[in-house]
Amino acid sequence: MGCGAGRNAGELLRKYPDSHVTAIDYSALSVEKATAYNKKSIDAGRCAVRQGDVSDLKLPNESFDLATAFETVYFWPGLERCFAQVARVLKPGGLFLICNESNGLDAAGRNFEKIIDGMKCYTAEELDTALRGAGFSEVSTDHHGRKPWICVLARK
Ligand SMILES: C[S@@+](CC[C@H](N)C(=O)[O-])C[C@H]1O[C@@H](n2cnc3c(N)ncnc32)[C@H](O)[C@@H]1O
Repeated sequence: MGCGAGRNAGELLRKYPDSHVTAIDYSALSVEKATAYNKKSIDAGRCAVRQGDVSDLKLPNESFDLATAFETVYFWPGLERCFAQVARVLKPGGLFLICNESNGLDAAGRNFEKIIDGMKCYTAEELDTALRGAGFSEVSTDHHGRKPWICVLARK
């Protein structure tokens, strides 16, 4: 979700050779870049890149084992509503991984919020609450030892 130029999709395809990855972004430019970056996998039938908004996913119910969101939930409109969309498309027991370079408390994150319109850096607690509100459970957060980076993992 929010795949940007598609490098993380490429990394997932490399790390998991039996996987199929669907990469979604609402920006036409991101879709163009992610398509070019993952062209080999797309041609091999292992990857699809689609333009779409996480607040209204045009994807079938219960169709994915894993959803990822790298550096993107800051921009999602109505966090819990978007998380509910992610939950809808995950299979029962499916996982949702969120990775943010801001933990919502760091000075850099606060600064980005000031200069990027609509950006919101969430704390681990805020993400946990929104995930549970959207129907996820087993929510856990890993914090980087020295940097304000967080990874939040949740199960449907
Ligand atoms: C900072 S970039 C991160 C891109 C990529 N995940 C990465 O880590 O390199 C954030 C991306 O999220 C996308 N995005 C933001 N809100 C979105 C939404 N509601 N639906 C789909 N994509 C969204 C943006 O278009 C942008 O490509």
